[in-house]
Amino acid sequence: MSVLKILPDIYSVGVVDWNVRNFHGHTYTTKRGTTYNAYLIIDEKITLVDTVYGAFSSELIENIQQVVPVNKIDYVIANHVETDHSGALPEVMKLCPKAKILGTEKCKEGLYRYYYGDWDFQVVKTGDKLKLGKRTLTFLEAPMIHWPDSMFTYCPEEELLMPNDAFGQHLATKERFADEVDQCALWDEAAKYYGNILWPLGAVILKKIEEVKKLNIPLKIIAPSHGVIWRKDPLQIVNRYTSWAQNETLPKVVVAYESMWGATEKMARKIVAGVEEEGLSIKLFEITGSDRTEVVKEMLDARGFIFGSSTHDNNMLPNLAGFLDFIRGFKPRNRVSAAFGSYGWAGGAVRQIENILKEAGIELAATGLEVKYMPDKNDLEACFKFGRNFAAVIKGGK
Ligand code: FEO
Repeated sequence: MSVLKILPDIYSVGVVDWNVRNFHGHTYTTKRGTTYNAYLIIDEKITLVDTVYGAFSSELIENIQQVVPVNKIDYVIANHVETDHSGALPEVMKLCPKAKILGTEKCKEGLYRYYYGDWDFQVVKTGDKLKLGKRTLTFLEAPMIHWPDSMFTYCPEEELLMPNDAFGQHLATKERFADEVDQCALWDEAAKYYGNILWPLGAVILKKIEEVKKLNIPLKIIAPSHGVIWRKDPLQIVNRYTSWAQNETLPKVVVAYESMWGATEKMARKIVAGVEEEGLSIKLFEITGSDRTEVVKEMLDARGFIFGSSTHDNNMLPNLAGFLDFIRGFKPRNRVSAAFGSYGWAGGAVRQIENILKEAGIELAATGLEVKYMPDKNDLEACFKFGRNFAAVIKGGK
């Protein structure tokens, strides 16, 4: 990413990671890559807001050097400990050892446990201010959006919010602003990001949005730590987050299944036909060959989820089990669900799926549907009705 002046004396100095395909270990696929954004403010005090993933330390340093010698940096704002934003910190601090790092108490603890650096660290709290010269930075703690250490930094003179991970997208692009990129890709990635990272944190997010609204601070630009910067109508992403956090959904059903010999797959296709018959939007995924990150994104605005599995050794199949285990912690609200599956001599999969759905707090809209061996004509008719009835529950207001 080349250095870009985003405001007078404020530069984007981060990097593009074009090739990353797995993020957070392998919990998130990044088919469009990502960026690690960092911002450099040139004022009486020179300030770097966040760094980048450690593998890109030298690129970040080269970018900073294009604007100012790195040893001139007075402050480094650490909005977040996670290594995609702090990984380059040790290399930066080697070049400006007298710089002061500012972050939350949890950030201080986390950075120490990651890097064991002997750095000058100033703990900041919500409302604390840092005078840079013509500009000021104010801090807003944002615990669990999405780590306990997370913090937003705001520059009132520029009406610029740097909320780190919040409002980001995993989107590698040379363009720096949201209004310059393909809007389908942008919103696809914003939804994927919210669904896969922030979904379980909706209540915290709503509270933080309310808190920021009460501060009545003007917002001209929201510059997150991944993806592009929101400058035209920056509230559009805030409003979208509000909608997602309030669990607003569409009359849409996601069906995901795993099948051993095709019986559960036949059931799935008839259930889908039943849902379609009622006019609802539908997405069907065979979970083994599907991208988990994409499935979660499709679930984000769906009102209903139906999961199916063949029974194997009294259990559901392992790929669906892994997926359900992953989403169990999301605890999605205002959704309904159901389970189905085939078995040979003793069932088990449907009951297991239902137990996980109950644990996740997702209401079961129907008794699970089981078929012995391969579905016959009557079984397939039952699957069709199962899909129609499920859709009818959603149409009826659930
Ligand atoms: Fe982009 Fe929580 O790190």
